[in-house]
Amino acid sequence: RAHRDPHRPRFHFTSPGGWLNDPNGLTHWNGVYHLFYQYNPLAPAHHRIHWGHATSQDLVTWTDEPVALVPGTEGPDRDGCWSGVLVDDGGVPTLVYSGRHGDRELPCVATGSADLRHWTKDPANPVIAAPPAGADITAFRDHCVWREGAVWRQLIGSGIRGTGGTALLYESPDLRTWRYVGPLLTGDAAGGGPDDLDWTGTMWECVDLFRVGASDVLVFSAWDEGTTHHPLYWTGRYEGDTFTPEALHRLDYGRRYFYVPQSTLDAHGRRVMFGWLQEGRDDEATAVAGWSGVMSVARVLTEAPDGSLAQAPVPELAGLRRDHVALGSPTLTDGTYARLDAVSGDQLDLEADLRLAPGATARLVVRETPDGAERTVVELTRDAADPARGTLRLRRERSSLDPDVDTEPRYGELPFGPDGGVALRVLVDHSALEIFANGRALTARVYPSRPTEAVGVGIGATGAVTVDRFDAWRMESISEGPRPLWP
Ligand code: FRU
Repeated sequence: RAHRDPHRPRFHFTSPGGWLNDPNGLTHWNGVYHLFYQYNPLAPAHHRIHWGHATSQDLVTWTDEPVALVPGTEGPDRDGCWSGVLVDDGGVPTLVYSGRHGDRELPCVATGSADLRHWTKDPANPVIAAPPAGADITAFRDHCVWREGAVWRQLIGSGIRGTGGTALLYESPDLRTWRYVGPLLTGDAAGGGPDDLDWTGTMWECVDLFRVGASDVLVFSAWDEGTTHHPLYWTGRYEGDTFTPEALHRLDYGRRYFYVPQSTLDAHGRRVMFGWLQEGRDDEATAVAGWSGVMSVARVLTEAPDGSLAQAPVPELAGLRRDHVALGSPTLTDGTYARLDAVSGDQLDLEADLRLAPGATARLVVRETPDGAERTVVELTRDAADPARGTLRLRRERSSLDPDVDTEPRYGELPFGPDGGVALRVLVDHSALEIFANGRALTARVYPSRPTEAVGVGIGATGAVTVDRFDAWRMESISEGPRPLWP
């Protein structure tokens, strides 16, 4: 069933069948990229989580590997092997992950064979017996581990009840005995609230600390009472035992559709990130489909001129492009909408350079049925009063006529240069949509009810919009033929 589902992406990584959530253990090891992920091979539901595993030479096409971690029949991970990372411990590949037992989450360690296929859990697990004493915490899971001179340091995602989400800092000589240092940084759960687009939540899932350019960056996903909110990041300075924040940013305007990302330094020294694209249809539809969860394409992070992060798909993704279509460079007149007859499909890479006059709006429509009843609109608006700013918006109110799928809009701030230029990239992969505009990202899912007809693409404008370039490609699938539903 799963491979016949018209909503299943074909150039994004999905699990062979069942449930997928967070990316884990990202690494480049002996010339091979490894992607592990939170996985339930038995059903498309979050239950008794394993670590799935796939390998790649190019960060784009993936080969399924045997399941890497299975919950124990006893021991601290009998209810799930939750999120974690892979580190190189003097040549020994070592996983640090959260063992789940009942509602307890405790750090566990496993060491791997050279091909990273076989993993041995440490008999001393859990390697930290309990969360820090005296702190009333909301959770204790997910790991960011790095080496600093002779010591290992790690962050564990948590929250202090009544205060806010936090990243707890630990130190170890050997990855087995850990000393609690203290909270690296704590948010403010009183500020804002669940409806705020940059609320930092009551718990931080999957904290990730790294440096890009001149900034240290602390990424986390804001969580509250079982609800996944959105990925955020602080830019600032990590020094000693503290992180001094400078600015808080939204990582992806799609909110929970690009959640709990993990990053790694790749073979070329690039900071590469993957995130989990959650479903936007209900559990029943997901159960029928037989699969759940999409891995984003690999993104390269660089430092934007304003010190924030700029995101773009890895250049290697262009290797999947086929059947190039280039359109002329029309100036769209006010109020026009044109269907691009030369471009259509549900597996597309669209790239455009646009220029917007102050006050203008450009629209790129994808997944449109011939009668226009279903359509998904990427909308770029430049402020009239403040032309250095604008809005990137995804309008999904007509993305599907199915009343049971999520069609809420998504939006966030879009910076503009003095010429009003927007570099726009839109990846359409069946239900998965990844949008990049001037380095900002917006990820979401759409489920047209007439998926084979909803393949139209068009552009339109309100106010003066110039299209300097518009290129389109059909994208090749990353696995040939139907994938097996079960491994
Ligand atoms: C985030 C998360 C992590 C946890 C894992 C369990 O989606 O809840 O905090 O480790 O998923 O699968």
